[in-house]
Amino acid sequence: MSSVDIPREQWATRVGFIFAAVGSAVGLGNIWRFPFQVGQEGGAGFLLMYLLFIVLIGFPAMLVEFVVGRRTERNPVGALKEIGSGVWQYVGWIFIATGFVILSYYSVVAGWTIRYTILGLQDGYIADAAEAEGQFVTLASGLDAILFHALFMAAVIAIVAVGIERGIELAVKVMVPAIIVITIGLAIYAATLPGAGEAYSYYLSPEWGVIADNWQSIVPAAAGQAFFTLSLGMGVMITYASYLGEDRNLAEDGAIIIGFDTSIAFITGLIVFPILFTAGVDPADPGAGAIFVSLAAAFGDLTLGWLIGAVFFGTVAIAALSSAISLMEVVVSYIIDERGISRPTAAIGIGGAMFLLGVPSAYDLVLLDLFDLFADQILLVLGGLLLMILVGWSLPDLAVDELQRGIGDLGSLGPAWIWAVRIPVILVLLVALVLGILDYYEFLTGPFAEWVGDQ
Ligand code: TRP
Repeated sequence: MSSVDIPREQWATRVGFIFAAVGSAVGLGNIWRFPFQVGQEGGAGFLLMYLLFIVLIGFPAMLVEFVVGRRTERNPVGALKEIGSGVWQYVGWIFIATGFVILSYYSVVAGWTIRYTILGLQDGYIADAAEAEGQFVTLASGLDAILFHALFMAAVIAIVAVGIERGIELAVKVMVPAIIVITIGLAIYAATLPGAGEAYSYYLSPEWGVIADNWQSIVPAAAGQAFFTLSLGMGVMITYASYLGEDRNLAEDGAIIIGFDTSIAFITGLIVFPILFTAGVDPADPGAGAIFVSLAAAFGDLTLGWLIGAVFFGTVAIAALSSAISLMEVVVSYIIDERGISRPTAAIGIGGAMFLLGVPSAYDLVLLDLFDLFADQILLVLGGLLLMILVGWSLPDLAVDELQRGIGDLGSLGPAWIWAVRIPVILVLLVALVLGILDYYEFLTGPFAEWVGDQ
């Protein structure tokens, strides 16, 4: 079975594509992952490195995905079959596998955000840190977690099953503006808290000594985070650009998308850290539970914290939903294009399988880390690296030609972009991959081995 002729869908409006890409980019990566990475990696130094990687690595890499998608008008597997020969066509398979792994646990975490929205509205949050931790452990694993994981996945399936124009585009046009408005509102609120000043200086003044001492962990974490937050490295932007019918200016769209994503991540820091400092919680308190334990406990401490917390977690859930649909769309577009299966059937089948793969993550946090680290520090970086090598070194003319469609002659900017992909992007990804693998090995022999021993 190969490509079957189903007319290819397209975005209906100019902003449809931008909204969908922003919706994909802005998600748990910005609101859940970003603050705990900042906390874990020592504050402002991480922020600085992250911003650097967004511009230096994220922007050129995003353009690579865009040109591949728009040129081929195919899903990532089909696209790589078309532009790459021999072994390169299998890179598309890494993308599909990555999508499976990420959405499986992403949905579990998103399920917690729904649970915590309800928790705020129903009972409020517990101010005592130890009790809050206990509550998180109860809610974040086991039957409760599996139930909300299922609920979230069902919502993703429903939107993806409806299609590009009336499903994804319509959904993101409601969700993205809501996320932006609420995030800004919460940051303004956080600025009024007594801990705000101390939080800003922690978040915004880099200490060079901290960066120099910890670069081995800061570099891969910041590079991985840059890729993750921009939805790069697994073909989301290939897929979304493949539904672009027109000659859009991809560089401009990319800059807008990155601008939004980076602003939301940055603003989230302006929300989370003042709240933590006000409640006297150490932001270095690491781990995937950070916003659900420390931040939830901080909400428990604040006046009207139940309401502010519910708005916060509700927003995170919406942001996660608009990202999750892009993760599922990558796999679904492949099934539709290459297998000729209908969209609803594909969405239900794929979503069901992803749900099952996520059950271990809903069962124990260590297993969630096992999936998250593997996808984020290895699969994403590997997929991105291979795509950059293919396009940067073997298809530079095609890439520049496609980027110029809708922009006009780029002059020396074309080669400048290609060289950015060829050297700095590839180098950073390579270093990140090696360090990521070492880090994963440490995790496997450390926390994971301990966990297995305890079972
Ligand atoms: N970017 C999203 C976030 O920050 C997550 C995400 C969606 C993603 N699609 C992706 C990450 C593709 C990597 C690859 O939450």
